[in-house]
Amino acid sequence: MPLLVLTGCQWGDEGKGKVVDVLAGSADLVARYQGGNNAGHTVVIGGKKYVLHLIPSGILHEDVNCLIGNGVVIDPEVLIEEIKALEDSGISVDGRLFISQNAHLILPYHRLMDKTMERLRGKGKIGTTGRGIGYAYGDKIIRQGVRALDMLDKERFAQKVRIAMDFYTPIFEKVFAEPCPGADDMIDRIFPLSDQLREMIVDGVTLVNQYLEEGRRILAEGAQGMMLDIDFGTYPYVTSSNPSPGGVCTGLGVGPQFISGVLGIAKAYTTRVGSGPFPTELVDNAGEQLRKIGEEYGATTGRPRRCGWFDAVVMRRSLQISGARDLAITKLDVLDSFETLKICTAYRYKGKMVGLFPSGLEDSSDVEPIYETLPGWGEKTSGIQTYEELPSGARAYLERIEELLGVRIVIISVGPERADTIIRCPTFWS
Ligand code: GDP
Ligand code: IMO
Ligand code: MG
Repeated sequence: MPLLVLTGCQWGDEGKGKVVDVLAGSADLVARYQGGNNAGHTVVIGGKKYVLHLIPSGILHEDVNCLIGNGVVIDPEVLIEEIKALEDSGISVDGRLFISQNAHLILPYHRLMDKTMERLRGKGKIGTTGRGIGYAYGDKIIRQGVRALDMLDKERFAQKVRIAMDFYTPIFEKVFAEPCPGADDMIDRIFPLSDQLREMIVDGVTLVNQYLEEGRRILAEGAQGMMLDIDFGTYPYVTSSNPSPGGVCTGLGVGPQFISGVLGIAKAYTTRVGSGPFPTELVDNAGEQLRKIGEEYGATTGRPRRCGWFDAVVMRRSLQISGARDLAITKLDVLDSFETLKICTAYRYKGKMVGLFPSGLEDSSDVEPIYETLPGWGEKTSGIQTYEELPSGARAYLERIEELLGVRIVIISVGPERADTIIRCPTFWS
């Protein structure tokens, strides 16, 4: 019963979409278990670029089915746009994209709350994507959410929206002095979308468990990354869900014993979008070079990503939380032209050396990263197909990461294209 979890180990944008696409060719179902359209997963196939926000990256393989799990928050307007964009590119989702009926919806008032709260936070803002993620999950937790299955019945949908609006309208009007859409307008705008989604709404828990019973292969696609996890990340500068593998059980409805493997995904350096601590951030030329060569601009918001050296301290914490012992390292090619490279091996924190990312760290200036310098390799790695053909400096860099973290690097990505991938161990599904 193979259920392989693919999860980001840094602050998101590790290249999960690309790695999912590479492995989806040997999967039967790809299922997203958390997050929403705050995610932006880019896949490049034969020079054509696809950016997926809600739909699992497996959709680009025509024989693979995809599920948006109950742990995801779905903006129906965005989902319909995304389906249309795929269909315009010749990719049909018909009969192979499913939505778990228990997934919660992001509605216009969630987006409005997100944007208004960020504005009010001023300098202390989280730097959210403004997609309403935190407020949709908030409503789920306080039990006033609207779910995908509510879109199957107009009366029920209208009733749920009215209950939520009774809560939000006075907040917008009296507290924020902001205009707020009326409940009827919202119902008239969103409910008609159910015509296009109705056929896809299923009992996702039964779907996933049927695949498992039949011994078919499921790839659980994470969004964001461990350091953005609501429980384990750099709170409050996090997202509002659990990208960590625990989120798979609650986000799809599967027992933990069915998880057959966890593949952690990390960039060969580190990036972050939004506010919050980032100890190895580079604000100099090297950071600019990483951003430029790595094209580090957000796939969702277009914001420049903050860039820095590979951080083994962050990674040790992520490996501890996720239990991953196998890693995919992406964007190795971005480092090709650097004369020297640094890896952060420890932090000096409160007068001591620490190897694990400290819980509760809110400010990078509370830690001093300790670096090890390695020589660069000065050769192009894109196009290389086997580990042995990589320049010796690149292998030394990867092997030092393996040694510092006690993991196996099983996939190395050397370019955005599907083909630019070195697979060292073909037995992910065992
Ligand atoms: P995700 O959110 O984890 O799926 O990652 P994103 O798609 O947001 O960001 C990763 C970016 O790097 C995308 O633009 C990918 O096309 C690109 N990418 C992925 N792997 C590689 C690689 O090995 N080398 C290079 N140069 N780009 C890559
Ligand atoms: P993928 O799946 C990088 C960040 C935002 C912000 C914080 C909270 O592409 O890796 P939110 O809108 O979720 O309430 O914002 O989380 N963030 C991401 N950063 N990649 C992502 O997704 C992200 N999704 C959210 O920038 O700092
Ligand atoms: Mg992304």
